[in-house]
Amino acid sequence: MESVGKRIQSLRKWCSHRVTLAAFPLIALAGLTANVAQNRQQHLQVQDDALGKSYFPNFELTAHDGSKLRFFDDVIAGKVVLINFIYTRCGSSCPLETARLLKVQRLLESRVGKDIHFYSISVDPQNDSPEMLRAYRERFKVQAGWTFLTGKKEEVDLIQRKLGLFIDEKSIDPLKDHNLNLVVGNQATGQWIKRSHLENPQILANILTDLHPRQPEVSRLPAYSLAPIKITPAGPGEKLFASHCADCHSMGGGDGLGPDLLRVVEKRPAAWLRRWLKEPDRMLEERDPTATALFNRFNKIPMPNLQLDESQISALIEFLKDESKDVPRPKEVASK
Ligand code: HEC
Repeated sequence: MESVGKRIQSLRKWCSHRVTLAAFPLIALAGLTANVAQNRQQHLQVQDDALGKSYFPNFELTAHDGSKLRFFDDVIAGKVVLINFIYTRCGSSCPLETARLLKVQRLLESRVGKDIHFYSISVDPQNDSPEMLRAYRERFKVQAGWTFLTGKKEEVDLIQRKLGLFIDEKSIDPLKDHNLNLVVGNQATGQWIKRSHLENPQILANILTDLHPRQPEVSRLPAYSLAPIKITPAGPGEKLFASHCADCHSMGGGDGLGPDLLRVVEKRPAAWLRRWLKEPDRMLEERDPTATALFNRFNKIPMPNLQLDESQISALIEFLKDESKDVPRPKEVASK
């Protein structure tokens, strides 16, 4: 009996052993499958993290045309984008930034809206309804491919924060002091670059193009023979003009967002010109007749107050005088 008992026991043992053995491949397979699923999950998670899907919020924003766009899915997913933050009541830096981006848009031509997308998000959503954004966009004659967006204040703040463009310090005027930098990026490759709003438009256009690996279109590049051969180093006035004014004004190249400034030094009294460069916003508020007439002629885009100090104003006026000096007057040209 004993031996039978022992045998049964050992048989049981053997059986259970067999069961274990027999089940092993199944368990192993199950384990492996679980592992694969887990790995896949982890892989997707890593991929989502790397490409920002779990990093960026997906809040719903409203565009200037009233359409609804989700921040991740519709605004950035799979796209090369340029994003900045503005508000339409802003009288200083935003118009300058918008003017500069118009140049970038012009440089990129029809690519904007196709494989490069511009977005300006309002930091003043309480005031900036889609209608306000649409009016702002129309005033600047912004072309297709550049969308203006508004949303809930806390959500816009978080988007700004996630893009590294939120200023934490409590400032006196959170709107005026909002971060003026902009961000360009390619969600699909995970490359994001922060740039100053005063960046040269050609450099911004190049960065956006480079985010999009493509064959260089050599045939479309201007010929070397067309390169300007101006070797005199730029003075302080010229530099200031290039960085702060040239997006809206030309010197003899015709009107842009603002009037052509060739010979403006002869056209306006010196005191008027100095004050205009110092506080155009005040002069518009005070309904200075010349300023108001210009404002109406130029599509009601206010010339921004660029917070220039006296020495900058002098340098700019010097530059405006110098540039006008050698240019022949229209009748001299005609008589030649
Ligand atoms: C965002 C565009 C913008 C920028 C940037 C800008 N301006 Fe203007 N400027 C205008 C507009 C628009 C007007 C016409 C008046 C108006 O609408 O307020 C104007 C008017 C002027 C006038 C008066 C022209 C005349 O016929 O009397 C001068 C001078 C001038 N700007 C100089 C400058 C200088 C210098 C800078 C750079 C420091 C500059 N502006 C930057 C948009 C701009």
